[in-house]
Amino acid sequence: MATARALTSLPRGPAARLARRAASRRPPVRAARRGLAAAASADELTITTPDDWHLHVRDASKIASVVPFTARAFGRALIMPNLVPPVRTVQDAAAYRAQILAAVPEGVAFEPQMTLYLTDNTSAADIEAAAASGFVRGCKLYPAGATTNSDFGVTDVSKITGALEAMAACGLVLEVHGEVTHASVDAFDRERVFLDETLRGLCEGPRAVKGLKIVMEHITTSEAVAFCESQGENVAATITPQHILYNRNAMLVGGIRPHLYCLPILKREKHREAVARAAMSGNKKFFLGTDSAPHPRGAKESACGCAGVFSAHAALPFYASAFEKEGELEKLEGFASFHGADFYGVARNAGTTTLRKAPWTVPETYEFGGDVVVPFFAGETVDWQVVGA
Ligand code: NCD
Ligand code: ZN
Repeated sequence: MATARALTSLPRGPAARLARRAASRRPPVRAARRGLAAAASADELTITTPDDWHLHVRDASKIASVVPFTARAFGRALIMPNLVPPVRTVQDAAAYRAQILAAVPEGVAFEPQMTLYLTDNTSAADIEAAAASGFVRGCKLYPAGATTNSDFGVTDVSKITGALEAMAACGLVLEVHGEVTHASVDAFDRERVFLDETLRGLCEGPRAVKGLKIVMEHITTSEAVAFCESQGENVAATITPQHILYNRNAMLVGGIRPHLYCLPILKREKHREAVARAAMSGNKKFFLGTDSAPHPRGAKESACGCAGVFSAHAALPFYASAFEKEGELEKLEGFASFHGADFYGVARNAGTTTLRKAPWTVPETYEFGGDVVVPFFAGETVDWQVVGA
């Protein structure tokens, strides 16, 4: 693919620039190939219904504000368990799943895929009960203190060996928030340090858990891309729209933009390029996980703002814009609809989702359980929109 260009002046109108590069100069992307649903013209793209393999939908009054966005465009989403208190057992997951299903609009088919929050005390019995449910797909490892609501997280991976062995035996996937938490490690290095300090030991060598499938969540660095590529088929990674579209300058140059602050934090341009290249490589190890993580505006625009970017309102259009910009739109279907389902061992979705190139302006806010959330690209133009699912 073409080398990713530096997004030097982001975020002042990146989508507007994408719009200006509109398809008139670009040949139509390749038409449908045998066996794939993808069909495309210069301004319309139909793909097999995609899945979002990393999504935060919150709970209580907030859930109904965000679930419909994902349910309309995606067939399934892996629902992150970092509620207060966290989703730790199959009973918690069943109750949370019912809340989510109640928020799915009438007539829309959407299947939440649940994941449990691992703690130092998660037992093999907890894992076996979760696997038997049929709706729990994995367990999330949050190093304690790494991110929003991770205080109950794992203090040392040696404490969860039994749980990990049970997961491997039952076919549950380990989803990893891959950052160390020591105060001595720079915020921008936390993912890279985690690879050697923790993740490698889970994947290779004497402490590795044989047969365990591992997803490196929301990867942000060239080192994480290389690590994932170097491992066997049991290791894969999700990639968010913000880590494809933006580098850290977008967040920090010319004023601090709290709505671009997420964890792992945006990195320098060479890492954005590596992550974008991985997403668009066609390598089945890399797949879509938005990490859409809404917070009320006041919690973001604060002296100590929360981490999380809300992208679910237009997740697929963000990816489509990024892939199109690199001339890789034909790779979107694999990334969005096939690789994740194949890795998780679930059937690919049967339906289709259609995107049209019809620029629109993202609202400044969306309603969020009696409050408001500022969406990714607020007030900016996005080239693509979902027109049918
Ligand atoms: C997530 C959240 O707000 O729940 N925040 C984020 O910045 N990604 C937590 C997480 O996935 O780390
Ligand atoms: Zn997340």
